[in-house]
Amino acid sequence: MTDPSAPTDLVELNDGVAMPRIGYGTYKVGDDEAQQAVEAALSAGYRLLDTAEMYGNEVGVGRAVAASGVPREEVFLTTKVWNDHHGADAARAALEASLERLGTDYLDLYLIHWPSPKQGLYVETFEALLKAKEDGLIRSAGVSNFLPEHLDRVHEAAGVYPSVNQVELHPYFNQRELRAWQAERGIATESWGPLGQRTGSVLAEPAVAAAADAHGKSPGQVVIRWHLQHGCVVIPKSSKPSRIAENFDVFDFALSADEMAAIDALETGVRQGIDPGSGER
Ligand SMILES: NC(=O)c1ccc[n+]([C@@H]2O[C@H](COP(=O)([O-])OP(=O)(O)OC[C@H]3O[C@@H](n4cnc5c(N)ncnc54)[C@H](OP(=O)(O)O)[C@@H]3O)[C@@H](O)[C@H]2O)c1
Repeated sequence: MTDPSAPTDLVELNDGVAMPRIGYGTYKVGDDEAQQAVEAALSAGYRLLDTAEMYGNEVGVGRAVAASGVPREEVFLTTKVWNDHHGADAARAALEASLERLGTDYLDLYLIHWPSPKQGLYVETFEALLKAKEDGLIRSAGVSNFLPEHLDRVHEAAGVYPSVNQVELHPYFNQRELRAWQAERGIATESWGPLGQRTGSVLAEPAVAAAADAHGKSPGQVVIRWHLQHGCVVIPKSSKPSRIAENFDVFDFALSADEMAAIDALETGVRQGIDPGSGER
């Protein structure tokens, strides 16, 4: 197994697909802005792009990929099925609509955005993703915001765990137990909201600032490196080309065990987003 404290550019998923460890997140990047921002990300070296049906920017993301000159097969494209398209037929139709908007005939990774447990359709939805994989429309089938109970139900019904679970994860909510649980089952952990900026500011924390000073890096780069050394795939978002490039420049330094532990100690046990078990989504 790869040493997570020495991250490489790629992680191998449980179905053999290779996924880049750093991606560009596009939540709150509008369709018009998306083309320019995604082109900036691709020219900075990102090869993983994270969008969603719900972000309303798939057209802009697709245009950026087409205009970038980067061959489609070098880009790892992820999008997500939204909660109002759970169920076999609805999920398949949502996937086909996303492909159309993105201007591509396949996705590298398709995620169920939320388990939406009140609807009780996430197992059927995941099975539709597996069928789409068989049909060559997606290379890998994953989920987002799933709790272990949801992952186990999928495993019981489908016989496989999703390849990826994209969850809220940052130094204030570091998901230590879930990361270990998923690693034991071969599920890659992908961190959303990785900079922890929604409430409070991880980037202003003394533990982060001290590591940034010690390595001559920015607080954002330190936090992104912390994700990589925990073995997570990380998808920071920025609308600013300078930060987009900065957030990708994290392979030339390593945090020490003490620096990692100091950042781990920022854990609050409090989510910044919705609790996936609450039924709110
Ligand atoms: N699956 C889900 O339910 C879910 C939920 C939320 C997000 N996501 C995905 O995860 C991605 C990342 O999460 P996120 O966008 O919520 O939050 P994030 O990437 O943790 O933080 C983005 C914020 O941090 C700022 N920022 C970025 N780089 C910075 C740096 N180096 N220094 C200082 N500030 C910096 C950005 O401002 P500027 O733009 O002004 O630079 C923006 O306000 C999303 O874009 C989306 O793709 C998924």
